[in-house]
Amino acid sequence: MSRVKNIKDDYGFFGIGIINNTDEINIGTLWRSAFILGASFIFTVGKKYKLEGSDVTKSWTKIPLYHYQTFDELKQNLPFSTQLVAVEMGDEAMPLGEYTHPDRAVYLLGNEISGLSDQIVSQCQSLIKLPGEYSLNVAVTGSIVMYDRFNKNNS
Ligand SMILES: C[S@@+](CC[C@H](N)C(=O)[O-])C[C@H]1O[C@@H](n2cnc3c(N)ncnc32)[C@H](O)[C@@H]1O
Repeated sequence: MSRVKNIKDDYGFFGIGIINNTDEINIGTLWRSAFILGASFIFTVGKKYKLEGSDVTKSWTKIPLYHYQTFDELKQNLPFSTQLVAVEMGDEAMPLGEYTHPDRAVYLLGNEISGLSDQIVSQCQSLIKLPGEYSLNVAVTGSIVMYDRFNKNNS
């Protein structure tokens, strides 16, 4: 398995992570997708991660995982001029298909049980959602967002 190639020069960079995740398999799966689809890093907020069998590509050897104890710590350590993008269902959210990804973005996913709180969403620069009445698995959601970014930057 290898990483996507032919990414445009002005593609920027992105990271993706989950806040207070409950199932470590989802981090392993997200890490694998993130590496393959061109992320520069992934992260967890609130809960540390132990290596999982779901990451069969050994993504930990390819892109780093950062851990933040709190959402505030994540915000304080955002790369310069980088937008925080909340990924969550809701009437206020913009459908992913209509969304133009920022050059430099950090995508934040909610936990498997409670999702992202309104308080956290309100501190992000944008809010995007995938279609459907029911929530998708969090790692699947993150993978689709990254695929959308890849497609829009390479069309
Ligand atoms: C399994 S969902 C959380 C479900 C939670 N029980 C709820 O009712 O919100 C976990 C995370 O996946 C992401 N997610 C799942 N489906 C989504 C969708 N259709 N649009 C945007 N984000 C989604 C969000 O980041 C969400 O916080």
